[in-house]
Formats: sequence, structure tokens, C-alpha cells
Amino acid sequence: MKNLGILLSGRGSNFEAIANNVAAGRIPDARIAVVISNREDAGGIDTARRLGLAALVIPSKNKDRAEHDREVVAALEKHRVDLVCLAGYMRLLSPWFVQQFPRRILNIHPSLLPAFPGLEAQEQAFAYGVKVSGCTVHFVDEELDHGAIILQKTVAVLDTDDEHSLAARILEQEHIAYSEAINIVLQGKFEIVGRRLKGS
Ligand code: GRF
Repeated sequence: MKNLGILLSGRGSNFEAIANNVAAGRIPDARIAVVISNREDAGGIDTARRLGLAALVIPSKNKDRAEHDREVVAALEKHRVDLVCLAGYMRLLSPWFVQQFPRRILNIHPSLLPAFPGLEAQEQAFAYGVKVSGCTVHFVDEELDHGAIILQKTVAVLDTDDEHSLAARILEQEHIAYSEAINIVLQGKFEIVGRRLKGS
């Protein structure tokens, strides 16, 4: 059984989807060991408490990155976390943090990377006029929205869409994709050649 550590900053719908899938036995090799938010007002932390999970707020405000990252890593280690899942965690991880969990940190991003990294990816994609967007689950490396891709799901952009309806359909796919990616990583039946994950 592997321990997941979830890091979030906001609403927490991706975390909730993972928690539901764990509870339903759809991520059979894992349990959620701890949920950590850098913000007290994150909806996701209330959800974690409601679900009876270990839920920690480690505020990042007025703290330098190195110090905050040390506190978060210490909490993850204390809860014996094997796999860290960033789920709307609005902080860049320091290189030191990334090195503490080599190939053991995942992120989800609401675009088909490498298109539209950074904030408001769905709005960026809509404004650009793409006909297809989607979401990406990838390993975290030291660059923003950059590590090797585990899986992607596509979403067609409709004539009737605005950025909100597009974001909502992408989010539905995110909720499926993240748990699939966790299963792929925990099963470990893949190799990474260059940036390419093969065998999943
Ligand atoms: C999602 O769109 C995710 O792709 C991005 O941040 C958003 C988090 O949403 N990284 P939620 O907090 O999981 O509802």
C-alpha cells in the first residue's frame, strides 16, 4: 500500500475525485496519507477534514520558499508519503523539494502541454482559438508545467463554448485522468526514454 500526499491551494475538486476513487477501490494500491494546503481558506482542506483525512495548513504567506518547502517536505516525510500529487497547488516547488521526491511528484494541468503552461490555461487556449484542448498529468521537474507526460485527455472546443464551459468539460476529464495516472505510476510498468513514457 502506497501513501499519497496531496498538496492544494483552493477548491480541491481534483483531490476530491482522487479521494472518491480511493474510497471506491479504483486506486487499489493507495491511501491518502495527508492533505496539505498553503492556504487556510482552501475549500479542499475543509473537504479533507470532512472526509476524516489528515489535513494540514502550512501557510506560505510571508515565508520564504526554502523555509516553506522544508516544512512541507517534513510533513510529507512524517506521514511517510510515497507519491506527492499536486492538485491545484499554486506554488512553484524549489529544486530542493523536487529532488526529495525524484519521479514521485505529479501535477495536473488544464491544457495539452506544452501548449498554454502557467495560469488560466483554459482561457489562454480559448482565446487562442484552438479546436482541441484538454488536460495533462505529468511528473514534476524543476521547470513549470514541464516534466515527462504520463497521460493526456483531449476535449473538443465547440462553437457554443465560452471559456467557462470549456474549463468545465476539461475539469471532468481531469477528474478521470488524475486517478488513471496515479494507477499508472503506482503500477510502475513503464519506462521513461528521454521525455517519453512508454509501456503504460
Ligand atoms: C485544475 O484546473 C488543475 O488542472 C489546475 O488547478 C485547478 C485545480 O482545481 N492545476 P481543483 O482545486 O482541483 O478543483
